[in-house]
Amino acid sequence: MSQITIKVNGMKVHGNSREPLLIQLERAGLRPEFQCRDGMCGACRCKLAAGAVDQKDSMAFIAPNEILACCAIPKSGVEVEFAYDIGETEQEDLTKNTLSGTAHRS
Ligand code: FES
Repeated sequence: MSQITIKVNGMKVHGNSREPLLIQLERAGLRPEFQCRDGMCGACRCKLAAGAVDQKDSMAFIAPNEILACCAIPKSGVEVEFAYDIGETEQEDLTKNTLSGTAHRS
């Protein structure tokens, strides 16, 4: 089963266990910071509050409880926290957001 729930900064996003978190959050209309998208810069660093991910080897410095969203694929449902507001979609109704991803305040 690849369908999972990603909790991020108080929102829930429908996701999967096949793609990096950064891509899934962007598809849901959220705007986490990024630069290299390849584990080099650390811009996408976030705290892993619950769950587990497959984290690709990377050059960027991260603390023991942090992950790089650009190269972390959730193994199952996860909870992540960015230290800043990653925003919402520009649409009022988040459930109308994308073909496969949606974000909901909880
Ligand atoms: S965007 Fe550069 S490490 Fe993730």
